[in-house]
Amino acid sequence: MSSELTGPRFEEPIERRDFLGLAAVWSFFGTIAAAMLGALKLPIPAVFPETDSRFAIGKPVDFPTGSVTGIPRRRIYVLVDAKGIAAVSTVCPHLGCVVARHNDGSFTCPCHGSKFDAAGKVAGGPSPRGLIWNEVSIGPDGRLIVDSKREVSPNTRFAV
Ligand code: FES
Repeated sequence: MSSELTGPRFEEPIERRDFLGLAAVWSFFGTIAAAMLGALKLPIPAVFPETDSRFAIGKPVDFPTGSVTGIPRRRIYVLVDAKGIAAVSTVCPHLGCVVARHNDGSFTCPCHGSKFDAAGKVAGGPSPRGLIWNEVSIGPDGRLIVDSKREVSPNTRFAV
């Protein structure tokens, strides 16, 4: 009588060399699959640009004469004087850092030390130009609208 046993439990164990070969093949295909997934994601931008450059900042009564209001989320300062309302961008024209405003009205960039006077003109440092003044208008609902894509000449005010 033959004592040969059959079934998966009694199959020959896989050789170490074969196991390493299979591991190498599966690692290769796994790496290719991961690289292809990464390549497929490349055309999808990680950061979506702002869809609308116009945004409401509030009613004119929210900005009394003489006030200076920073709106960090929109990266602007709203300056109000007797002539009207202005919106000055806080984005440094050098490399895009956010400038800080001082009590005397001047601005300083913390990144490379550009300085701007109260009108946003360059007073020192590497910035190639002054701060951008954005167009201010009023919407149909009576709220002030700032357009971050429309630049106006410095010291332009929107008269309310
Ligand atoms: Fe403002 Fe360089 S980013 S000085």
